[in-house]
Amino acid sequence: MKKLLILGGLGFLGKHLNKIVDKQKYAVYNESRRTGFDLLNPEVVQKRLNDIKPDVIINCAAHTGSLHYVSEFAADVLYDNVSMYLNLYKVVDNALIVNPLSNCSYPGVVDIQKEEEWWDGPVHDSVLPYGMSKRMGYIISRCHRHVRTINLLLPNAYGPLDDTDPNKVHALNGMIIRMIHTMRNGSEAFVVWGTGKPIREWIYMEDAARLIVKCIERDNLPNPLNLAQARGISIADTARTIKEILGFEGRIIFDPSKKDGAPIKILCDKNFRHNFKDFVFTDYKEGIKRTVEYYKGTL
Ligand SMILES: NC(=O)c1ccc[n+]([C@@H]2O[C@H](COP(=O)([O-])OP(=O)(O)OC[C@H]3O[C@@H](n4cnc5c(N)ncnc54)[C@H](OP(=O)(O)O)[C@@H]3O)[C@@H](O)[C@H]2O)c1
Repeated sequence: MKKLLILGGLGFLGKHLNKIVDKQKYAVYNESRRTGFDLLNPEVVQKRLNDIKPDVIINCAAHTGSLHYVSEFAADVLYDNVSMYLNLYKVVDNALIVNPLSNCSYPGVVDIQKEEEWWDGPVHDSVLPYGMSKRMGYIISRCHRHVRTINLLLPNAYGPLDDTDPNKVHALNGMIIRMIHTMRNGSEAFVVWGTGKPIREWIYMEDAARLIVKCIERDNLPNPLNLAQARGISIADTARTIKEILGFEGRIIFDPSKKDGAPIKILCDKNFRHNFKDFVFTDYKEGIKRTVEYYKGTL
């Protein structure tokens, strides 16, 4: 049986990975600060990796948050994320590492995010610390050539099992949480943060987990690889879909004083489809229905 270490295993992606991984095939270890495995402490990282001796590490540990959160805590987000990659690669020598990177690391202004153009421009200013730390994760992996790494570029994720603080989660789950609060407070209007115009691609987190587990078992994947549907939806349309599914009867209004972020974030799926021809993504409305049910039962 192989040993699979999930760093950040109790986070949003980590919880979904735990549901998907075949426990007959992998002995799973979930670690994070809550279990005493602080990736910011090099001695702890060295000791725990020596104890576990994993064959595969899925590195979900990250200092994450909403667009507004990563701007407010920019210096800490950059320092923590880059330090975590450095401390991990410093001591790993005989394990496969999978890094789920974010499409915030693409140039801020492009129509379609192609892997071969990933470096062709600066990341959007609104996600500078987060996007650049993900690019650094890739650089750090390339500099440790003896460690096999799969770098995956994910779009914004949504789905059950995420945080309940709208300031810590990405926009889709954040809008579901805030719209449920709006309804419970009896307010007549739901406020979308920003103009509603940005176009975003959304991945149901369970799909991301399924794909990551498939990737572990594949050789010769492009590095990095987009986990892509090549499908974008505006924030305004997403808010309308949530409104319809939740049955909210009030108005949707926009607060342009809040940052929009990059205008368009859609991943090119050419390489993805070449490698995963038959993968079927969860239907977007069905995914939102399941997420709404989750938050209605959790909040
Ligand atoms: N969510 C998305 O929409 C999305 C989209 C694209 C890519 N990704 C990427 O996927 C990965 C996982 O994201 P997620 O949404 O699952 O994030 P998350 O829910 O915030 O989970 C992050 C995990 O990292 C752990 N962590 C934070 N600081 C740590 C430290 N110093 N040492 C050890 N563990 C630490 C946290 O646990 P403790 O607090 O217990 O330490 C938590 O379990 C990240 O690399 C993220 O960039 C996510």
